[in-house]
Amino acid sequence: KLSVDTGAKGTKVSPDLYGVFYEDINHAADGGLYAELVQNRSFEFDSVDEPSYTGLTAWSKAERGATVTPAVTGEDPLNPNNRNYLRLDVTGQGTAGVRNAGFNRGLPLVKGERYDFSVWARRAEAGPLTITVEDGSTVLGTMTVRVKAGGWAKYRASFTASGTTDAGRLVVQAPAGRTDLDMVSLFPRRTFKGHGMRADLAQLIADLKPRFLRFPGGCVTNVGTYDPYAETGDRRRIYQWKETIGPVEERPTNFNFWGYNQSYGIGYYEYFQFAEDIGAEALPVLSVGVNGCGENRPLTDEAKLARWVRDTLDLIEFANGPVTSTWGRKRAEMGHPKPFGLEYIGLGNEEIYPEFFTNYPKFANAIRARYPDIKIISNAGQTSQGAWFDRMWQFARDQKADLVDEHYYNNPDWFLANNHRYDAYDREGPKVFVGEYASRGNTFFNALAEASYMTGLERNSDVVRLASYAPLLANVDYVDWTPDLIWFDNDEAYGSPSYHVQRLFSTNVGERVVPSTFEGEGRPVEDIKGAIGLGAWNTAVRYDDVKVTAADGTVLLSDDFSAGAGKWTPGPGTWAVQDGAYAQSAQVEDARSTAGSADWSNYTIEATARKTAGAEG
Ligand code: AHR
Repeated sequence: KLSVDTGAKGTKVSPDLYGVFYEDINHAADGGLYAELVQNRSFEFDSVDEPSYTGLTAWSKAERGATVTPAVTGEDPLNPNNRNYLRLDVTGQGTAGVRNAGFNRGLPLVKGERYDFSVWARRAEAGPLTITVEDGSTVLGTMTVRVKAGGWAKYRASFTASGTTDAGRLVVQAPAGRTDLDMVSLFPRRTFKGHGMRADLAQLIADLKPRFLRFPGGCVTNVGTYDPYAETGDRRRIYQWKETIGPVEERPTNFNFWGYNQSYGIGYYEYFQFAEDIGAEALPVLSVGVNGCGENRPLTDEAKLARWVRDTLDLIEFANGPVTSTWGRKRAEMGHPKPFGLEYIGLGNEEIYPEFFTNYPKFANAIRARYPDIKIISNAGQTSQGAWFDRMWQFARDQKADLVDEHYYNNPDWFLANNHRYDAYDREGPKVFVGEYASRGNTFFNALAEASYMTGLERNSDVVRLASYAPLLANVDYVDWTPDLIWFDNDEAYGSPSYHVQRLFSTNVGERVVPSTFEGEGRPVEDIKGAIGLGAWNTAVRYDDVKVTAADGTVLLSDDFSAGAGKWTPGPGTWAVQDGAYAQSAQVEDARSTAGSADWSNYTIEATARKTAGAEG
């Protein structure tokens, strides 16, 4: 029997409770939410960053009668931020040039849809460029642009696709002579609300009806070569919002924390615009110059720190200032005279180092003095960071931060067991922003555990004001981190089970949570823990948190198998992981080969097992 005390006042649910946390991880931007179809459009890939990169990554030669020598060079570039471009030296009759492979299988086209091409080009003598999009020998679109003699200039063309493909190639050909090309770009005309985001991915996010958009990420915001103002040669700069606004050809490419090039095609202006387009509050997170995510190379130079603080104030002016202000004018020039109405700002992401205690007040005090209405979010790192987490929390209390950003990635059991986590939180101190959380795995069971946990967030939403699952997006071919909320390739996307739980909750937010009680037979999730002998493995049981220890104490395998289902198939010599358990499958194989195929009795195997319906044993 379920009894609900409808007359009770209950807890008022935070109107902003459910939002999204966007990070450029797993190619969430380039090859993801950013609708650009061309990979390495500005020829900035370089083996200095990543051994497999070259200036011609994703590009290859395409010769149609003439021959070509393509070379990436930096001599007299388009501008100092855009260091490299492509030089085509074409000889002979006919044309020759290059072909771009796009992301995943190639460039996706939909029959009847319109596509917009643009390029910056330079030729000593005038001459035409022929641009085609091809799928094998089938041409699905053709365009021509006439390059004038002289310096760099931008050219545009468009076409309607005559067929559908997910494996197209963009081919750009030039006549004989030298042609320089940069910012070779192809966009679908149809993007989300016409603002450059891939429509299906943006729609999946919008369908969550998120109340806030935390951006531009976690570790991607606060880890980089730690001089934000290094003048030259720094290819891994920490995320600086000012580098990401203005004309795209003037935004630098940065090699990001997650190990790939980030074009900044989606920059701060686009984040603000996207937040507005999905009806969410923009919630930017900025580093205070301390690092985190395993790195501690703090910014201690006082002059540079002062500049960093000024840049942070300028960001608020960029979002909220009138068009007569310096940064408000830049926002207006980009197309949004009306202020974006920024209310929250995050200071630091998992910046759990002593310098945080010195740097944070410089930023927070300056913001409080100039913009007293902005709510400041401090950060506590991950709960697994133990004493540091507590220290960071105490610091946030002392500093009277408005909210504290907590992060945790735990097993589903933890989520089931910690429904009451916030019941005892201090109601007088800073409020909580659960800025990153997920149970490890993308199965239905994970989603169920999260749903159970989220009832505790709602019940305590007088303290927990904001919460966002993390990470949001993952391209199936460029995975840095699992689990993720939305998976996609170049032309398809779907929500994980956790996505559907988030959507169910965030599109059905009540006003109050009133007390309720349940009487009757509880049917808890069956949870068997402890040592499990080999004979007990059962295909109908899912094993998580598997740890295999040799007699001498060596841990051969210790991991969570819940990602990608993670079932084990038992049987002599057939140990394997089913259903694509990503990195973990390799680890199982390692453990198996280290252990040898014969006698497992010398090894201790511990696991958490969950019976699925009807399982025996
Ligand atoms: O969400 C993935 C990462 O987890 C974030 O970048 C970071 O903040 C956290 O450690």
